Amino acid sequence: MLVIERIDHPVLAAQWCDKRRARGARIGFVPTMGALHDGHLALVRRAREENDVAVVSIFVNPLQFNDPRDYELYPRDFGADAVLLDVTGAAMAFTGTLAQFFPGSGGDLANVPLRDPGAAAEGLEGERRPGHFAGVATIVARLFELVKPARAYFGEKDFQQTRVVLELARALGGPPIEVCPTLREPSGLAMSSRNARLSPQQRVDALALSRALYAAQSAWQKGERDADALCALLARVAGASPLRIEYAEVRDPERWTAARPRGALQRAQGLLAAYCGDVRLIDTLRLDGAPR
Ligand code: PAF
Repeated sequence: MLVIERIDHPVLAAQWCDKRRARGARIGFVPTMGALHDGHLALVRRAREENDVAVVSIFVNPLQFNDPRDYELYPRDFGADAVLLDVTGAAMAFTGTLAQFFPGSGGDLANVPLRDPGAAAEGLEGERRPGHFAGVATIVARLFELVKPARAYFGEKDFQQTRVVLELARALGGPPIEVCPTLREPSGLAMSSRNARLSPQQRVDALALSRALYAAQSAWQKGERDADALCALLARVAGASPLRIEYAEVRDPERWTAARPRGALQRAQGLLAAYCGDVRLIDTLRLDGAPR
């Protein structure tokens, strides 16, 4: 018997949240697309620790998939997710359909008014995945409107997404956003729902991403501050594998720019995207000495 409440309509979920808030509960919110792994569960644990209740949304948001095949193949198992969330202590998990989230749309993507995702959506993921961040910003704003959380939790692995969400939350006047560290398997592979689609050999091939990021971090520790040199190193190490590299980049983690920064860097975030077979993976690491 599961203790967690499972709600399959966003409006009912909003009513549940309203009731809890009316009784003074602070809601820690973790938006997800399901296919939960330990990285998500770490967010839920933190949401639970820092608030009175943790609420999780599970919605494979069609607005943010620029590739219909990726949307189709995205792993889905609400039953298994609910069990994991129950064990982790989430109080409520909810889902819904596009038509339920956006009642004016009639379930048609073309009828959902998209939000402008702001300047942090420019470059890298925003450039490779047109419309992706508008889809993310649109659903996240809607989820915030429904849940009205005291705080919301996002994983750092989707680094550019965290910049977009921080900008969105600023524009909306809240909630405070907590960006939580990437969880890795002992091998170094960053946890991701898409890892479920990798073969055993591809899981080994995918280690080239974290290997490249650690090599760049080590170069930084030895004094390398030049963005072009760090990017070349990332591309070289990640590229010495069967992966098809889409980008190997660095950005200033505190000041997002569409283009690579010039001159000597004071801070650096390494960012990689690559295809492993037909699975697109991203990974990121803070290269300078700052925590995480
Ligand atoms: O990171 C994700 O899983 C999604 O982009 C999010 C934030 C749940 C929005 O659909």
